[in-house]
Amino acid sequence: MSRIMEEQVLLFGEDVNYDRAKEVKEFDETKAGVKGLLDSGIVKLPRIFIHPKESLPKYDATSSCLFHVPVIDFTGYEKCRRLEIINEIKEASETWGFFQMVNHGVPVCVMDEMLKVIKVFHEQPREVKKEWYSRDHKMKVRYFCNGDLLVAKAANWRDTIMFDFQDGPLDPQGYPLVCREAVNKYMEHILKLKALLSELMSEALGLKKDYLTNIECMKSETVVCHYYPVCPEPDLTFGTTKHSDPSSLTILLQDTIGGLQVLHQNRWVNVNPIHGAFVANIGDFMQLISNDKFKSVEHRVVAGSVGPRASVACHVYPNAFQKYRPIEEFTSDENPAKYRETNITEYLTHFRSKGLDGYKALPYFRL
Ligand code: OGA
Ligand code: NI
Repeated sequence: MSRIMEEQVLLFGEDVNYDRAKEVKEFDETKAGVKGLLDSGIVKLPRIFIHPKESLPKYDATSSCLFHVPVIDFTGYEKCRRLEIINEIKEASETWGFFQMVNHGVPVCVMDEMLKVIKVFHEQPREVKKEWYSRDHKMKVRYFCNGDLLVAKAANWRDTIMFDFQDGPLDPQGYPLVCREAVNKYMEHILKLKALLSELMSEALGLKKDYLTNIECMKSETVVCHYYPVCPEPDLTFGTTKHSDPSSLTILLQDTIGGLQVLHQNRWVNVNPIHGAFVANIGDFMQLISNDKFKSVEHRVVAGSVGPRASVACHVYPNAFQKYRPIEEFTSDENPAKYRETNITEYLTHFRSKGLDGYKALPYFRL
């Protein structure tokens, strides 16, 4: 029996006739996402969403009490608290790969409005949303259910609308009308925050403040806006499978529902929602160029029986036409470069080819 068949037997009893590809295709062709399934009144999860038992969350009451993701107050970042903030970023990036930011300068009303319109987009009639449904990476604005639906072994309970700024700014006329103004305003502010983080992270790495900007490590961004509807059987699936981000840095906005967890000292720790806060997490590419100084840490979103939950992840990427390798400052005879030279296009090609399979993409580039 093939490995895949064996797994199917394990997963679905004797039902080896389960034609996953066919069921995935039929679902994808509805162009209505998981929201469409919920609206159709399902009470049981279609099996394409059921994850293998061993990867599903185990209830661990202690982890959330033991550890807390660092929360950094950005008040005074220009002068009086700058050094303190840089030290907190350094500490968090070396140990957690995650931190939350408060008093970061982005108006809370802009953040709230962004989350609101993302919900409004996903809650439109399917005929309206359908126009935006696509798996074509060349499309700069598109809506889809699970970026890796066609390659992953199990699908997640989440829909997404994505804005791809990798080739530069987009014409806002090309955004869905319901979110045009809010996305535009949000991007204005997020770009300022990105510029600030580029400086603070450079300094946290012990480099000059314009270092990461000069090497174009924070050049462009892709904004993915997720919608996690209430899940009829949340114990059988995920909102997002365990993964680490292929970006340099991710700036995430989550609403107050909760569900995001980060792996810390081998335990899953809740990233507790704080109204008005952003979550920052180090991406694989930053770990690569910092030669493992800053850590890109695995995280996931559990599926929930309360919701819907919305989140907006701004994945910051390096210049696609440039090759990167571990920065000289982080290598020495005793500590040689741990990764080979690569560029983000090659990195993403590898990342996408495997889908969110629970394994990191980084080891593939290790020397
Ligand atoms: C991501 C991600 C988490 C969330 O988009 O990479 O991890 O809370 N999102 O939606
Ligand atoms: Ni992520």
